Amino acid sequence: MFIHFPKNRENEPSLRPIGVFDSGIGGLTVVRALRDLLPHEDIFYIGDTARLPYGGKSKATIERYSIEISGLLLAENAKLIVVACNTSSSLAIAKLHEILRVPVVGVIAPGARAAVKETRIGHVGVIGTRSTIKSEAYERAIQALNPVVRVTSQACPLLVPLVEEAWLKEEVTREVLHRYLDPIIAAGIDTLVLGCTHYPLLAPLIQEVAGPGVHLVDSAKNCAVAVKQTLMESSLENVIEKAGKLNVALTDSSSSFLATARQALQLQIDSLETRIVQSMVLVEMA
Ligand code: DGL
Repeated sequence: MFIHFPKNRENEPSLRPIGVFDSGIGGLTVVRALRDLLPHEDIFYIGDTARLPYGGKSKATIERYSIEISGLLLAENAKLIVVACNTSSSLAIAKLHEILRVPVVGVIAPGARAAVKETRIGHVGVIGTRSTIKSEAYERAIQALNPVVRVTSQACPLLVPLVEEAWLKEEVTREVLHRYLDPIIAAGIDTLVLGCTHYPLLAPLIQEVAGPGVHLVDSAKNCAVAVKQTLMESSLENVIEKAGKLNVALTDSSSSFLATARQALQLQIDSLETRIVQSMVLVEMA
């Protein structure tokens, strides 16, 4: 068994694209935030739509998928990899830090930092996929920053399909949100981390359901801030004044959600391709 990554082409490092991946299209919320903050950067985005959802899968599977997709981004000469998926960030980021030689930025640490900064009463809510919530990655990150802050978490497995159906304002979505959020609001949180990259698309409805007393922390925006800082610290920021390109590749040829996300996020996509994921495990035949 061996892991094979194609060699990076030599290039001026700062001109190389930022590589971003998610299990699907939800990570485009992170791309939107990156576009706003770093307009000159080229971005290569891969959505693993062939294997979506990641949200209920095991750590071993999420690690393997994340390594394979990172390999595709390195083949695109990515100078930094953004894990624009809370599930991968929760379960695979340590592995990616260990094996990749480019900087890796996830969504958990930036979201946790923003939540600790925002909370006035020291009680934060976190919503995410089942795997993200089960991993307790947000609890650990928040408590490492401030052990006094209490965290109340809630897995919301129905939200990703609702977002993918583009039911962003429907009554049924409001009802589902009440079922998930009412108990954590009643527990007394004043800050709520949107711990899944699909959820920023539901932010207006989540804010209505949670009420004006609850501050929403968007992990996408905070991740973009962390990317900018990492690029500056590593002298990798592209300072050439031109509009950055956005190239998107999906691992399956169809995704109806792409049109929704593109429209909701007002993203200009310069190219759209399909990529086959190459398994990192090659079994040698006798
Ligand atoms: N984008 C994933 C996340 O942020 C959710 C979608 C999925 O379950 O694959 O956790």
